[in-house]
Amino acid sequence: MIVNNQLYQTVWIEGTSVFMIQQNLLPFKFEIHECKTYWDTCMAITDMTIRGAGAIGAAAGYAMAQAFLQFRDDNDKALSIREARQDIENTRPTARNLFYAVDRVYHAGLISPENAMVEAQKIAQQDARNSKKIGELGSSLIKKKANILTHCNAGWLAFVDYGTALAPIYLAKREGKEVFVYVDETRPRNQGAKLTAWELFNNGIPHVIIPDNAAASLMAQGKIDMVIVGADRIAANGDVANKIGTLDRAIIAKEFNIPFYVAAPTSTIDVNCGTGKEIPIEERKPEEVLFQSGIDSNNNYVQIRVSSPGSQALNLAFDVTPSKYITGIITEKGIIKAHHQSIKKLMEESVNQ
Ligand code: MRU
Repeated sequence: MIVNNQLYQTVWIEGTSVFMIQQNLLPFKFEIHECKTYWDTCMAITDMTIRGAGAIGAAAGYAMAQAFLQFRDDNDKALSIREARQDIENTRPTARNLFYAVDRVYHAGLISPENAMVEAQKIAQQDARNSKKIGELGSSLIKKKANILTHCNAGWLAFVDYGTALAPIYLAKREGKEVFVYVDETRPRNQGAKLTAWELFNNGIPHVIIPDNAAASLMAQGKIDMVIVGADRIAANGDVANKIGTLDRAIIAKEFNIPFYVAAPTSTIDVNCGTGKEIPIEERKPEEVLFQSGIDSNNNYVQIRVSSPGSQALNLAFDVTPSKYITGIITEKGIIKAHHQSIKKLMEESVNQ
């Protein structure tokens, strides 16, 4: 992606440091954050300096490689590395990509730290390549002048590059389809209002931010032709965990006969989770609901309380959309039904390739 006339990926590694776009400051400030140790990278995942399934997958893979390099001369390096793996896996529980990447890099690192690094790089490159492919396949579903609703941010910031839900939209625009995007603000962290809107603006895509409770009304008015969202984990039966609020959109879309697509790489599919009920759902700090952050009129970054002092908040970061609400899943290997058989076939083909 290009920012300030320079080509960036969301996350990358140089030497033993992991670098990433500091997403907590966007869209107000564009800064690069450096993580010198695996622990720094863990902290960046936890506090959402980096976020989005593919991006945290790549970062977690790099963190695992950093641990192998950091502990290469430790007396009990096997133990230190196992503990580091645990730390990385404890950062965020829901996105499958994180566990997928850590597992791959861990096994590669048992051969050598250099091998761990090669594997981590490979995962990041694959993430970008898969997203590009999802864009190509997904754009075929988008009609001319389509009005598309998206939730959260599944754009390039959520992956190493390109994105998933937004990649088809970027390509459709380049194909001259004149798309328009309704962007759910996506409380409490506002990934829609802050990140998706920023990405779309930078790409010259007409869009408008809508409050989280506006989708039903817009669908009832016939203003939305299709919904495309990302995914954090997809169960073997096609149930999809994604940012909280996705489930409401899916139910409403079904009521109004609006196609509801999920765009995600196969690294998000967890065949060990039989159904969505088995997907661990992250609960984050109540402060994310009770406070909001942004800039004041002097351009200072501030946090303000937007809720009654004395009340607590429940902050579930994800929900699970049952497969029956999903029209199709756009993966890098093809567009499939959200159905046990289709997922099984796709994953078997992936293994055999
Ligand atoms: O909590 P976040 O911002 O890491 O949320 C994850 C997501 O990016 C969304 O749920 C997204 O729609 C999934 S696709 C990366």
